Amino acid sequence: MQNKLVLGALTALNLLTPSVRAEDEPCLAVAKLQQKAAKGVEVPRPYDAAYLVQFDAETAYKCITSVPFNKDAAAKVIEISKSYFQFHSTLAYLKDPPASYQQESVDVMSKLDEFSTKAKNGDYKNLYEFDVDFYRLAQATHESHFSKDSHVLGLFRWTLDDTIVSVSTDGKALPQVYAASDISNNVNSPSAIVELGGQSVYSYLQGYLKNFTANGLIEPHADFNALMYNTGLEFASWAQSSDASMAPTAFKTTPIYNGKSLKGKFANGSDFEWAYRAGSNANMTLNQFFSGQDIYDLKVVKTNSTSSDDSTVETKRRKKRSYNPDVKLVKRADSSDDEVAVPYSAWPTNPIVVQDNFTYGGTVSGYYFDENQLGVLSIPSFDTDENSSETFDLAVASFINQTRSRGAKRIVIDLTGNGGGTLWMGYDTFRHFFPKKVPNLLWRTRAHNALNVLGSVLAWNGAQNTSYEDVPDINYEYGSKPDLTKFSSWKEFYGPRELKGDNFTSTATYDFSDKKLAGELGFYLAGYGDNIPDYDEAFPAENIVLLVDGGCGSTCASFSTLMKHVANVRTVAVGGIPEYGPMQGVASTRGSMMREWNYFGDAITYIRSILDTIDESDKKDTYSKIGVSSTDIDNLPKALADSPWTVDGAINMFDTLQAGNQDTPRQFLYEASACRIFYTGEMIRDVSKLWQAAGTIAGGDNSTCVSGSQNAVGSKPLTFITDSPGFSYSELWSRANSTDVPNVKTDENSSNSSNSTEDSAASSYRVGLPLAVVAIAATLLL
Ligand SMILES: *[C@@H]1O[C@H](CO)[C@@H](O)[C@H](O)[C@H]1NC(C)=O
Ligand SMILES: *[C@@H]1O[C@H](CO)[C@@H](O)[C@H](O)[C@H]1NC(C)=O
Ligand SMILES: *[C@@H]1O[C@H](CO)[C@@H](O)[C@H](O)[C@H]1NC(C)=O
Ligand SMILES: *[C@@H]1O[C@H](CO)[C@@H](O)[C@H](O)[C@H]1NC(C)=O
Ligand SMILES: *[C@@H]1O[C@H](CO)[C@@H](O)[C@H](O)[C@H]1NC(C)=O
Ligand SMILES: *[C@@H]1O[C@H](CO)[C@@H](O)[C@H](O)[C@H]1NC(C)=O
Ligand SMILES: *[C@@H]1O[C@H](CO)[C@@H](O)[C@H](O)[C@H]1NC(C)=O
Ligand SMILES: *[C@@H]1O[C@H](CO)[C@@H](O)[C@H](O)[C@H]1NC(C)=O
Ligand SMILES: *[C@@H]1O[C@H](CO)[C@@H](O)[C@H](O)[C@H]1NC(C)=O
Ligand SMILES: *[C@@H]1O[C@H](CO)[C@@H](O)[C@H](O)[C@H]1NC(C)=O
Ligand SMILES: *[C@@H]1O[C@H](CO)[C@@H](O)[C@H](O)[C@H]1NC(C)=O
Ligand SMILES: *[C@@H]1O[C@H](CO)[C@@H](O)[C@H](O)[C@H]1NC(C)=O
Repeated sequence: MQNKLVLGALTALNLLTPSVRAEDEPCLAVAKLQQKAAKGVEVPRPYDAAYLVQFDAETAYKCITSVPFNKDAAAKVIEISKSYFQFHSTLAYLKDPPASYQQESVDVMSKLDEFSTKAKNGDYKNLYEFDVDFYRLAQATHESHFSKDSHVLGLFRWTLDDTIVSVSTDGKALPQVYAASDISNNVNSPSAIVELGGQSVYSYLQGYLKNFTANGLIEPHADFNALMYNTGLEFASWAQSSDASMAPTAFKTTPIYNGKSLKGKFANGSDFEWAYRAGSNANMTLNQFFSGQDIYDLKVVKTNSTSSDDSTVETKRRKKRSYNPDVKLVKRADSSDDEVAVPYSAWPTNPIVVQDNFTYGGTVSGYYFDENQLGVLSIPSFDTDENSSETFDLAVASFINQTRSRGAKRIVIDLTGNGGGTLWMGYDTFRHFFPKKVPNLLWRTRAHNALNVLGSVLAWNGAQNTSYEDVPDINYEYGSKPDLTKFSSWKEFYGPRELKGDNFTSTATYDFSDKKLAGELGFYLAGYGDNIPDYDEAFPAENIVLLVDGGCGSTCASFSTLMKHVANVRTVAVGGIPEYGPMQGVASTRGSMMREWNYFGDAITYIRSILDTIDESDKKDTYSKIGVSSTDIDNLPKALADSPWTVDGAINMFDTLQAGNQDTPRQFLYEASACRIFYTGEMIRDVSKLWQAAGTIAGGDNSTCVSGSQNAVGSKPLTFITDSPGFSYSELWSRANSTDVPNVKTDENSSNSSNSTEDSAASSYRVGLPLAVVAIAATLLL
C-alpha cells in the first residue's frame, strides 16, 4: 500500500481544549480519546481512520446522542425530503408489491408523515434517533438507489474485533456460521456459532438485518451474504479510489450502536464475547466537535467541508465528458513489471491483466488457469471516473484477447460485491463479449407534476441554449422509443401511463447507433466507432458464467440482464442462508440510474432563473406556450440550500423493464440464478477455489449446484414471475439449517414465462438497458 497518511504525533491536547467545556462532556472525551488513539497509528488511506483509530464504544454513543434535536428544523427537512422522494420511481410498487417480491412493503410517503408527527410530538430525544428512522426507511425500500444523507448517523462506526462467515465443509453439506478468524486461520475442527446475543444464531441475524443494516437488497439470501466476511465484497467497496474505506462487511461494523460487546456461544459449549470499538472519519479536534451542540452547529446546520453558497447551477453541474471521435485505443492495460494484485492474501498474485492504477481507481483484473483452460475476469465494481473508464475498457479487451489467444474453454466473470457504477461500462463490457448483439434494455420513470414541469420547461426552446444535455434524464431527446425511433416531444415521452394507482412515463431505450451516445465517455464503447472487436462473440455463451453473491445491482444488474437475457449466459449464485434451493443472485437494485436530489434541485434552480428573465408582461403567454402555470413553478421542490440542515439524498430514477412485461419493474420480479453453490472454508482462504467451482459449471458440469437450485423460476432467459416463487422471506429464514429440499416453482411449470402484455415493440427488440452513473450502496454522510 502506497500513499500512507500518518496520523498521530499528537501533542499539546490542552492547546486544542476550549476552556469552557465541562470535563464530562462526552464529545470532548471522544476528541481526547481519538487523539490519543491516533498516536503512532498509520492510516493507509484517509477513510480507513474509522477502523484504525479506535476508542471507547459507549463514550462515542453518549456523544452522538447528545446532539440536540430541533423539531421545527426537522419538520422542514421532512417536507423537503418528501418533495424529492416523489422522483423515486417505485413508490407505488413498494407500497403494494407483487407476490414475487421477497421483502415487505413500505409506504414511503406515509412513513415520512409519521416522522413528521413524531417530530411535532417531541418523540425524538436527539438527532441520532431521527437519523435512525430515516436509515430504517431507506432499509425498508431495499433499494440501494434510495437514501437520505444522515445528519449525525455515520459520524461514528462501531466495529467488532472478529466477525462471522458461513461455510460448508465440502460444498454439499449445509453451511454453518463460524468465527471468521477460525476460517481465515484454518484452525483445526472449528466449532460453529449456535447463539448470538442470547438468541439462536439465525434469529439473531434476521433481527440484526432489521435493526442495523440498510443493504438495499431484495433477496433474503443476499441479505445473509451481506453480513458475512468476504474479501470480494470488501475489495469492491474500497478499490475504486485512493481514499475509499476499508469497508468491513455489515456485521463487523455498524453505524448504529449495538452495545459495548456481542456475546455468543459455540456448538462445543464455549462462550465468547467480542468487543465493539468506535471510530470516526471525522477528526473531532480539527473540526472542533467538542460537544453535541458543536456538532449540531458546525456539521448539521452548516458543514465546513462544503460551502453552501456557491450553488449556482453552472458550478455545480455535472462535468461534461467531451466527445472525441478521434480517440484511439493506444494504451494496453496488460500486466507489466509494476503489476499489483488484490491486496488480500486470499487472492492470486499473478493476474494476466490489471486495470491501470489498480486499487487506486482501477478495479478490473484477470486470471488464467492453464490446467483447465479457465479464464477469470474479476469486476468488483463498474465505477469509473473520467480517467478510468477507458482503462477499464482496455483491461476487459486485454483479458479477452489473452484468454482467446490461450484457447480458454471456460470463462468466469466474478461480479461478487459489485453494486454498480458507470452504466456505460456495463454496456461496454457486454459488447466486448458479444459485439454483434443489440443491448437495448427498456426503462421508464415515474410521471408526476414536478417532473412534467421540469421536462416541459427544459424542452422549451427558450431554455435550449443552455446545457440541456446536462440533465439527460429529463431530456426527451436522450433516449429513444423501443423501436429506436425518436420521441417527437417531451409530451410524448412523458405520457403518462396510469398503472398501480400511479403514473409512469413512456418506455424508452438507448440507441447507441447514435455516435454521440456511444462516444460519450471520450472513447467508443466496444462494438461502436473505432472500437470494433475482430470476432462476433468472444466465447460461446454456454462457456461463460457470471458469478454473483446477491449484491449485484444497478449497472451490475444491467450488465447481467444483457448477458442473460440477450446473450443467454448463465448466472451462478454463491452463499445465502444455510438451506437448499435457489437464490436470486442479482438482488441489489435493478433500477438503472441513481440520481442525487441535487440533480433535480439544480435543474429547478436553473429553470427558475431562466423563467425569471421573462418579462412580467410576457409571462402569461410564455407559460401557456410551455404548458405550465405559475402555481406549478411555485410548487416545485425547494432548493436544498433552503433547508435548515445541510441535506441531500438520492432516488432511483429509472426502472428497468423485462421484455414481455412493461407493467412491473424488474426490481419486483423473482428471477433465480441458474445454479447456486455454497462457500467452503477453502474458498474464503483462496478465491481461486471459488472460481474453480464456478468454472466447473461453465465447463458444463452442474454437479456442484446445490440441491434444488437449478431450473427454478426465472432462471431461464426472458422468463419471470410476478406471483410467489413458492416461498416468502420469513419462510426462507425459518428454514435456515433445515435439510429439507424446497418445493420451488420451475420455469417449466410457470405460466407467466414470456407473458406478453401489449408489448410488441419490446419483444421485437429484446432487452435494452439504460445509461448512466454510479449506484453504490446507500452511503452515509462524511
Ligand atoms: C486531527 O488533526 C490534527 C491537526 O491536523 C492532527 O494533529 C491529528 O493527528 C488528527 N487526529 C486524528 C485522529 O486524525
Ligand atoms: C470451541 O470452539 C471455539 C471455536 O472454534 C474455540 O475457539 C474454542 O477453543 C473451543 N472450545 C473448546 C473447549 O474446545
Ligand atoms: C444445524 O444443524 C446441525 C445438524 O442438525 C446441528 O448440529 C447444528 O447445531 C445446527 N446449527 C444451528 C446454529 O442450529
Ligand atoms: C432487533 O430489535 C427488536 C425490537 O426492538 C428486538 O426484539 C431484537 O432483539 C433486536 N435484534 C437484534 C439482533 O438486535
Ligand atoms: C472546519 O472549521 C474549523 C473552524 O473554522 C477549521 O478549523 C477546520 O479546519 C475546518 N475543518 C475542515 C475539515 O474544513
Ligand atoms: C493514476 O494515479 C496517479 C497517482 O495516484 C495519478 O497521477 C494518475 O492520474 C492516475 N492515472 C489515471 C489514468 O487515472
Ligand atoms: C484525472 O487525471 C487528471 C490528470 O492526471 C487529474 O487532474 C484529474 O484530477 C483526474 N480526475 C479524477 C476524477 O481523478
Ligand atoms: C490480440 O491482440 C493482438 C494485437 O492487437 C492481435 O494481433 C491478436 O489477433 C489478438 N488475439 C486474439 C485472439 O484476438
Ligand atoms: C440564450 O443565450 C443568449 C446569448 O448567449 C442569452 O442572451 C439568453 O439570455 C439565453 N437565453 C436563456 C433563456 O438563457
Ligand atoms: C395520472 O395523470 C393523469 C394526467 O395528468 C391524471 O389525470 C391522473 O389523475 C393521474 N393519475 C394518478 C393516479 O396520479
Ligand atoms: C447444466 O445446466 C444447464 C442449465 O442451467 C443445462 O442447459 C445443461 O444441460 C446442464 N448440464 C448438464 C450436464 O446437465
Ligand atoms: C400475464 O400477466 C398478466 C398480469 O401482468 C396476467 O393478468 C395474465 O394472466 C398473464 N397471462 C398469462 C398467460 O400468464
